[in-house]
Amino acid sequence: MSLLVALLQSFLLMIWPTMAAPSKVSSMAKPGCNETCGNITVLHPFGLDQPNCYRDEHYSLTCNYTFNPPKLFLGSLEVLEISSLGHLRINNYMSFDCYKSSGKNSKSFSYWVDLMNWPYTFSATHNRFTAIGCDTQAYIIGSSGRNFTSGCSMLCSDLGSVVNGSCSGIGCCQTSIPRGFKRFDLQLYSYYNHIYVRSFSNCSYAFLVDSNWYNFSVSDLPGYDFYDKYKGRIPMVLDWAIENHWCPNASTTDSKYACGNNSECFDSPNGLGYLCNCSKGYQGNPYLEDGCQDINECEDPNNNPCEGICTNTPGGYTCSCPHGKKGDGRKDGTGCSVTQFPVLQVTLEYRPDQTELMHRWSVVGGGSNFGPLAGIEVGLRLDQIGLAQGYTV
Ligand SMILES: *[C@@H]1O[C@H](CO)[C@@H](O)[C@H](O)[C@H]1NC(C)=O
Ligand SMILES: *[C@@H]1O[C@H](CO)[C@@H](O)[C@H](O)[C@H]1NC(C)=O
Ligand SMILES: *[C@@H]1O[C@H](CO)[C@@H](O)[C@H](O)[C@H]1NC(C)=O
Ligand SMILES: *[C@@H]1O[C@H](CO)[C@@H](O)[C@H](O)[C@H]1NC(C)=O
Ligand SMILES: *[C@@H]1O[C@H](CO)[C@@H](O)[C@H](O)[C@H]1NC(C)=O
Ligand SMILES: *[C@@H]1O[C@H](CO)[C@@H](O)[C@H](O)[C@H]1NC(C)=O
Ligand SMILES: *[C@@H]1O[C@H](CO)[C@@H](O)[C@H](O)[C@H]1NC(C)=O
Ligand SMILES: *[C@@H]1O[C@H](CO)[C@@H](O)[C@H](O)[C@H]1NC(C)=O
Ligand SMILES: *[C@@H]1O[C@H](CO)[C@@H](O)[C@H](O)[C@H]1NC(C)=O
Ligand SMILES: *[C@@H]1O[C@H](CO)[C@@H](O)[C@H](O)[C@H]1NC(C)=O
Repeated sequence: MSLLVALLQSFLLMIWPTMAAPSKVSSMAKPGCNETCGNITVLHPFGLDQPNCYRDEHYSLTCNYTFNPPKLFLGSLEVLEISSLGHLRINNYMSFDCYKSSGKNSKSFSYWVDLMNWPYTFSATHNRFTAIGCDTQAYIIGSSGRNFTSGCSMLCSDLGSVVNGSCSGIGCCQTSIPRGFKRFDLQLYSYYNHIYVRSFSNCSYAFLVDSNWYNFSVSDLPGYDFYDKYKGRIPMVLDWAIENHWCPNASTTDSKYACGNNSECFDSPNGLGYLCNCSKGYQGNPYLEDGCQDINECEDPNNNPCEGICTNTPGGYTCSCPHGKKGDGRKDGTGCSVTQFPVLQVTLEYRPDQTELMHRWSVVGGGSNFGPLAGIEVGLRLDQIGLAQGYTV
């Protein structure tokens, strides 16, 4: 083998693995079922239209095409986003209580949501009960699952004492909620009908909100602006699960078992039931029989885990180094390094079926100044490697 051929070969080895076939793009819905409503992906066990598209009626959604873009509904709740790991973001309403400067009640609305008999609860990790107002008593009354009453009580003297951007108890108050309840009522009362604060706060508001979404602003206090800003709607997060079983009891042989191939079962954190997650190295919808598809780690041009040769395997990948470099080939490992200074590396192979010691050599890396060194290095390395591995040359 000439130097040039060896050099070409080592380059080919490095380039070749990046030309693998693209992995299959998996659908989130059952075959033959609509997958989107507007820009929202409807993933199985949820489904639209026909009964074979959803697991059972608890996961049946409707897409209302009279809206542009169309809107997705779970019963009467508008759905904004579905996550396979047990969350459902919905567009919710708020309670409000407004007063005229005379102290007469001008408009009010008490809101409640009931999820009784549905495999859903209000997410305790993602939501905060929030109240806004400066002459305000706000209560959240939870029932079904866990009964509780919690709330905020606020009086503030002027707008200057309110901290903008921070819901810290003056003009805005937040509390976390217990997990696992299925009905809440939001109730609002006022101490003095807002007569002492009417110049900067004539309404009180109460709502359960996705805590990552809402940031309090001083401008949310006066008048009816807060309601108008969001048209009375705010996002809230529901937890969902496959109901009535936990993983140890959710038999993989049961025809109703929800988790597909290459996925794992885990108990939903709120005690509703179980959920599925694609196994490590797989992605897609774990609730479909073959929804979890292998991730081709080698194909990702920005995140190739190997420095050397990347080979995709089901659920993983292996890294190796081209001939003449050593290391584990991983970016987070030892990578691939040229063995010491010599430009030439010699590998010895002992073939038990043959009596003579075979030797093979290859050239590593680029550069054009290895020519004159070649002869010297081969002699040197033959000796070194032979001795190190206990062979007699
Ligand atoms: C998918 O949605 C369209 C409306 O966009 C509807 O006409 C069609 O029947 C749906 N397909 C199925 C399989 O339900
Ligand atoms: C859907 O589109 C709306 C705007 O039309 C956008 O606010 C929202 O984030 C989009 N949702 C998703 C899941 O892409
Ligand atoms: C769609 O929404 C409109 C307007 O809110 C409503 O009148 C209609 O009944 C809804 N259609 C369905 C199928 O829910
Ligand atoms: C919770 O409250 C509901 C009605 O408000 C009542 O029917 C139920 O018995 C209560 N549950 C518990 C455990 O107290
Ligand atoms: C609240 O603030 C965060 C970052 O501070 C931002 O990403 C988010 O969009 C804000 N939410 C609203 C409703 O403005
Ligand atoms: C309060 O903060 C918001 C952004 O967080 C800003 O838009 C608004 O102008 C601020 N209001 C005052 C009175 O500083
Ligand atoms: C709030 O009070 C202002 C005057 O102080 C009044 O113009 C406005 O209509 C009131 N808003 C509501 C919702 O009653
Ligand atoms: C599993 O099933 C057994 C018997 O069917 C029952 O005693 C046990 O409580 C169940 N465990 C869970 C976590 O559901
Ligand atoms: C997926 O699982 C089903 C049985 O649940 C089996 O028949 C099928 O061969 C599996 N498919 C793959 C690709 O492993
Ligand atoms: C789901 O699987 C991914 C990758 O296997 C893992 O990183 C993640 O923590 C899992 N999530 C849960 C909630 O188990």
